[in-house]
Amino acid sequence: MDKIIIQGGVALSGSVEASGAKNAALPLLAAAILVDGPVIYRRIPHLRDISTMMTLLAWQGADVTYDDQHCLHVDTRKADKSEAPYELVKTMRASSLVLGPLLARFGHAKVSLPGGCAIGARPIDMHLKGLEAMGASIEVEQGDIVATVDGRLHGAHIVFDQVTVTGTENLMMAAVLATGTTILDNAAREPENVNLAESLRALGAKIEGDGHNRIVVEGVDRLDGGEMTTIADRIETATYLAAGLITGGDVTVTNTEPVMLEAFLARIKEAGGLVETGDDFIRCKAQGRLKSVDIHTLPHPGFPTDLQAQFMALMTLAEGTSVIKETIFENRFMHVQELARMGADIRLDGNTALVTGHNKLSAAPVMATDLRASASLVLAGLAAEGETVISRVYHIDRGYERIEEKLSKLGARIERHSASEDWMKGVQQND
Ligand code: EPU
Repeated sequence: MDKIIIQGGVALSGSVEASGAKNAALPLLAAAILVDGPVIYRRIPHLRDISTMMTLLAWQGADVTYDDQHCLHVDTRKADKSEAPYELVKTMRASSLVLGPLLARFGHAKVSLPGGCAIGARPIDMHLKGLEAMGASIEVEQGDIVATVDGRLHGAHIVFDQVTVTGTENLMMAAVLATGTTILDNAAREPENVNLAESLRALGAKIEGDGHNRIVVEGVDRLDGGEMTTIADRIETATYLAAGLITGGDVTVTNTEPVMLEAFLARIKEAGGLVETGDDFIRCKAQGRLKSVDIHTLPHPGFPTDLQAQFMALMTLAEGTSVIKETIFENRFMHVQELARMGADIRLDGNTALVTGHNKLSAAPVMATDLRASASLVLAGLAAEGETVISRVYHIDRGYERIEEKLSKLGARIERHSASEDWMKGVQQND
């Protein structure tokens, strides 16, 4: 398995371009199942999770082609399998995003129930309850969710118990081809949800309220082919900005959207970092050592859980003690033990981490445990004195496109070593 090796201690500077967002591209691709015509996708990142979704659509019988320009062509008109098998779902839990679209199109869906995950149990009960309210009958048979509906799904008023990003996306997609009006209350307001709603609207869907906590979908009979463009990856953007800050450098990320990162940028300013934004770029520059600030993760527009680990890496070198509270996932502190191997001073108390900053980290061999935890180890490695070796980097490859290339462009001494041993093959990789 590949390893990433970093010689830390170089202040990063310069600019990199944001890639398309993984978590926006995945629901957009699932939405192809609803469309009665070819769809051209733009700004699709080259990532493992995207390849998994492409494999799933192709397995269902869709025509899927990817060119070199981050452009993907999908035509699901010949698709005839309303299933998502365990082999694919176990490698990526976001495969369950096809549940709503399959049911809306075929009146039947058999999707393997995703298992647990490194960051928490992550049930999908709210997706299922919502589909039931829209008329589906749902059974779990031998590990598969089997959903059926007589005729079409119908509109319903659904109130989510808790904000769920993919749950909102799944039900929004199901509602697009349902009869009548669906109201989604306590809906997710993430930019990726808005990207999905805007893209579906461009193909003929009637959706209002995206970006707010009540989304109203008026069902239509069909969606036409057309184009969908993925928004910038806000988590990748912030990770590169954090890479600049943790090394005492000055990094600009281009082709991105500052408005998507307000909570993160506010905390960076509070910590003493210089933040400059334009319509489509963000620059962060270190001005001496950062000061500790507290965060607690929340659904958008709050501080994203997907940046908690990276922010914690920053706080390991800040002045003072930072209180970091994780409120979205119950087990999203897997990076703590690995950061501790690099000299970080972190005390865990339930869902809260107390991070006392010191003025250095030291290099060590560490292991990536999930996607964002891996990003925090890369950040720590960039700042640490000496050589940090990160193993199990397949986690990073799920969400960061050409990470070594982008960081090298900013001056990092980072390389990938491909090892021949594959003793971990078959390991569950399901962030
Ligand atoms: N939840 C339930 N029941 C449900 C659905 C969710 O209890 O039916 C709980 C979850 O267990 C969690 C909370 O609700 O405690 C929120 O989970 P959510 O459903 O919002 O998460 P998700 O949709 O599975 C997406 C992203 C994650 C990101 C979360 C939170 C995609 C493909 N994944 O997951 O991204 O952390 O929203 O923002 O969009 C990542 O990219 O590293 C990643 C894990």
